[in-house]
Amino acid sequence: MARRLSIPGLVNLLEVSDAREIRRLDAEPRLDRHLAPTGGLINRWRLARLRQAFEFDGEPLPALLARETEGRASRHAELGRRLDERAEASAWGRDPAFKTLVEAVAGQAEAESLGPAAQGLLGRLFRDDYRADAASYAAARLLDAYPRVNALRALGQRVTGRLRRARRLLAERAGNEPLALHATAIAVHNLVASLAAMRELAASSLAPGLTREAVLGRCLRPPETLLRRVRMPLSTPCAPRRLEPDDLVVLRLADAARGSGDRELAFMGESWARCPAQGFFLALLTAVWEQAMAVRHGGRGA
Ligand code: HEM
Repeated sequence: MARRLSIPGLVNLLEVSDAREIRRLDAEPRLDRHLAPTGGLINRWRLARLRQAFEFDGEPLPALLARETEGRASRHAELGRRLDERAEASAWGRDPAFKTLVEAVAGQAEAESLGPAAQGLLGRLFRDDYRADAASYAAARLLDAYPRVNALRALGQRVTGRLRRARRLLAERAGNEPLALHATAIAVHNLVASLAAMRELAASSLAPGLTREAVLGRCLRPPETLLRRVRMPLSTPCAPRRLEPDDLVVLRLADAARGSGDRELAFMGESWARCPAQGFFLALLTAVWEQAMAVRHGGRGA
């Protein structure tokens, strides 16, 4: 169901949470991702928050780059190939954090251990020496929440330097590498939320009989929202009135994926902006689940 919010000079926004509408809008070349400050006051404010959190050295992190950004598509295709190879080799098996993830899902380690372990495992996909701890995970949480906290709190985080320190710590740990930063500051939250859902499911009496598909269907946690910006006037059945340049379009992905049970959508698998980590991520979740079930039910552990 689409929701249009339009107050001239203040806000011009369309929100969609239906899987078909999300696909239709995403396929529309007149929409793009762009964080430059334009549009009504609230549009600008929203974009400013994203820039403050997710721009490093003047560049947005990879999953916020505009469609035409030079090298975006080829870099991400190359990453996809590399991650698929890692999945093929079950490369996570060599990382000590994998055991922690298995134990946490099996209920044999605290749920709190999921965050730093997940961040470390993702970070080491990019840097062998990536080090995650409570401080780096707290920094990732602060950054992730920053675009949504109220104005006063956001101001507080800027003036006290908390935001700056969190960004610096994450960038240092990631060696200033944008893809490593994306994985350890943004994607890590989807991994942790998915594993937390698995932990809950693993403890239920349903767990032993579930297929891999059923487990992933219940536990996969996609990003809540994706942002698009209108480049040229656009009439679409998804919006009651024509969309104008600089209107923002919020794709409510998590609601749509939950409502439709559409797993491909969780990674925007048919989009120009498809997630290159889809295969890797699903294989990793499957491996954690299988080993956690083995641990809980007396089979072979991690
Ligand atoms: C290893 C972890 C991950 C890495 C390195 C990664 C990397 C990326 C990159 C580089 C993009 C940008 C693609 C482009 O615009 O060309 C992207 C997009 C995306 N990723 Fe991931 N990702 C990870 C995990 C996840 C997970 C766990 C999910 C969902 C459960 C997810 C969902 C998405 C979605 C929906 C997009 C599209 C964003 C948009 O359309 O604006 N990603 N990812």
